[in-house]
Amino acid sequence: MRCALFVILLLPGTLIAAEVDAASGLIKNPGWEQVRAHCGGCHSHALVTGQRADRNTWLDIIRWMQATQNLWQFQPDVETQILDYLAASYPPQANRRRAPIPPSLMPEVVQSVQ
Ligand code: HEC
Repeated sequence: MRCALFVILLLPGTLIAAEVDAASGLIKNPGWEQVRAHCGGCHSHALVTGQRADRNTWLDIIRWMQATQNLWQFQPDVETQILDYLAASYPPQANRRRAPIPPSLMPEVVQSVQ
């Protein structure tokens, strides 16, 4: 009986794949507090959550802000947590544009009246 109750209580948490922090909009994956602490001071966290990139590109973005936008240096372990979080939570998206419609399904071209 106690066991069944435990499972029911756990379920809602496990069903929600990506919980989002209401205040920042950040996905609550491991490391999200570091990103909340370091990445919302100069611009909205929405600039972070709207970006998609692989780990190297995230690092490029951070290096660019450090070189040109006064972003501070991170301790190596903090930087690793931030990059792990960003690469896992906001990875590059596959091209979602649909394939072209096959010519056989297209209407016949109507010749314009001269
Ligand atoms: C010291 C200030 C500062 C901090 C802190 C900061 N940024 Fe930025 N960031 C900027 C500025 C300035 C821009 C340019 C904003 C613009 O173009 O309007 C920017 C732009 C961006 C962009 C858009 C880049 C693009 O190519 O358009 C992303 C993504 C981003 N920041 C992510 C982050 C992340 C992730 C962190 C934490 C690791 C962070 N920022 C922390 C200053 C900062």
